[in-house]
Amino acid sequence: MSTPTPHSLLLEVDEYIERLFVPRDPLFEQALRDATEVGLPEIHVSPNEGKLLYMLAKLAGAKHVLEIGLLGGYSTMWLARAIGPQGRLVSLEVDEKCVRCARKNLERAELLSRVDIRHGDARVTLEKMIAANENPFDLVFIDADKISYPVYLDQVMKLTRPGSVILADNVVRDGKVAREGETDPAVLGAQEFNRKLAANPKLEAIIVTVMRETLDGLAIARVKD
Ligand code: SAH
Ligand code: DHB
Ligand code: MG
Repeated sequence: MSTPTPHSLLLEVDEYIERLFVPRDPLFEQALRDATEVGLPEIHVSPNEGKLLYMLAKLAGAKHVLEIGLLGGYSTMWLARAIGPQGRLVSLEVDEKCVRCARKNLERAELLSRVDIRHGDARVTLEKMIAANENPFDLVFIDADKISYPVYLDQVMKLTRPGSVILADNVVRDGKVAREGETDPAVLGAQEFNRKLAANPKLEAIIVTVMRETLDGLAIARVKD
């Protein structure tokens, strides 16, 4: 056997982990097929990252979850399962087509009753939620437009409490965040977000790398007591 490249080795290990720990689930698979069928981009979290979100939500004992970026509801299904029937998840999405697709997927999986989808630009919805003094969330998953990540972090700080968990997808972007001089706005957004996350004295945080077609990362932060 030839020596695997680091990339193929990471993929091989990712598939190994998935075979062991993420049993195939027809409801999840149908949700992904439906999203592709209505033309949504295939930018959902991977099965392993979905399981990671589920584990983190369970470990945190999260019952009240906020998601920014719904797409077809794939990550939503993982988080909604983790919070149980008594839990509540609010998911923000700007694209009407995503909202329709996700509703169908969540309905089929019998999870829609615990999910509150709010259609509109998340920056605006979050401002309204802050103004309305909504109850703090136990866990927040940031996964919408990358250039708004720094703004989302400021807003989310006003919707959480000591002990809350803040997660953010796509903060490694094929390793590009580690380099200076990048010009892709999504990379610049992730870099600024990561700097803000690291510098915020109210937070403790780390990034774990996750594998998809390329290398990416999930930021994990906790609001200090
Ligand atoms: N969390 C999903 C993937 C989300 S993809 C999953 O892993 O399954 C990013 C989503 O954010 C897209 O559906 C996109 O329409 C949405 N989005 C982009 N900009 C937004 C904005 N300003 N407000 C709300 N949603 C936005
Ligand atoms: C993009 C968005 C995502 O949420 C993701 O997981 C991957 C890529 C994007 O907009 O490029
Ligand atoms: Mg993402």
